[in-house]
Amino acid sequence: MSWSPEKTVVNSWNEWDPLKHVIVGRADDCHIPPEEPALDAKVPEDSDMRGQWGRRPQETIDRANELLDNFAAMLKKRGIRVDRPTCIDHSLPATTPDFHTDSQFGCMPPRDVLLTVGHEMLEATMSYRCRWFEYLNYRPLMQQYWEEDPNFRHEAAPKPRLTDADYHPDYLSDKIGVEKRLKWAAEKFFVTTEEEPLFDAADVLRFGRDLVVQHGFTTNMKGIEWLRRHFPDHRVHTVNFPGDPYPIHIDATFTPLRPGLILNNPQRRLPDDQRRMFNDNGWEIVDAAQPAHNAPPPLCYSSTWLSMNVLVLDPKTVCVEASEVYQMEQMDKLGMEVVPVELRDAYAFGGGLHCCTADVFREGNCEDYFP
Ligand code: ARG
Repeated sequence: MSWSPEKTVVNSWNEWDPLKHVIVGRADDCHIPPEEPALDAKVPEDSDMRGQWGRRPQETIDRANELLDNFAAMLKKRGIRVDRPTCIDHSLPATTPDFHTDSQFGCMPPRDVLLTVGHEMLEATMSYRCRWFEYLNYRPLMQQYWEEDPNFRHEAAPKPRLTDADYHPDYLSDKIGVEKRLKWAAEKFFVTTEEEPLFDAADVLRFGRDLVVQHGFTTNMKGIEWLRRHFPDHRVHTVNFPGDPYPIHIDATFTPLRPGLILNNPQRRLPDDQRRMFNDNGWEIVDAAQPAHNAPPPLCYSSTWLSMNVLVLDPKTVCVEASEVYQMEQMDKLGMEVVPVELRDAYAFGGGLHCCTADVFREGNCEDYFP
């Protein structure tokens, strides 16, 4: 079939070009999965989630869905096409020849599973057993894009085996302590081993020709090497944020807003030696404003830094969670038009405004921002 730009449905090269088409997740049937090595390492030691699992309370599911539906409706009103996934039954156990887990996770957040690079949507390997089948929630959409867009490349990274060899047993204690965690993070000793390539899509940020990938709990060095070989026309850069005792997903840590400007979590600063490509090309990395809350909402995996987990609609417009007054104020000072969006009661389902979406189409092409 020949190239037909008018039929292009999937096209997104960066985190900021004008957004025209996006997937917004659903909270239906989300579960707190049972214990498993990679997940336990992530649940903060003082969290109300330790030791519990099962279907999330229905009233929290309904409330999260209400917020996600409102968010989707607002985006549509702005002329953005919004698609929603088709939830599989997350109460079902997941069993492969290599592992068994008694329930799955949910179809939130799509950002963790789907990586859009140009005309390609790539299903990540994932690194939790309870999220191994999560891509199935998005298969109806992938099929639809396949029919609509003759240039769409639907790809899936090799499914990992996720045996115990994938996880360092040192992380299997619930009494490690933050001090030791920070030391391990600084040494780049994370819960996942180098047994096989592992990555979550939300560890990757797209800057045109350059992909910036966080090495941490959910993405290992082999996962980054896999991405490098998979995207031979891109430069793939590995980054670390040693201030983060639970390094999972880059989007509450490092947030590009437009060409030349990135917000960085002040507790998780990018080390000097990793700043070169940005400094050399005149990019500014500024500290994100403080979160408005002292603690995450109940049964939440993420930290209060979902405050900086914003969705950029275009280089001048950004969606910020409506209670994050300091973050909204900072955006305003940075010259961005702020669209406040209520989402805090959906945080427990896996994240904020960036997490709960996945790009399908942004205007623009693949640019080189770091020549
Ligand atoms: N690790 C982040 C934090 O707790 C949360 C990132 C959530 N991102 C996502 N795509 N699910 O600060």
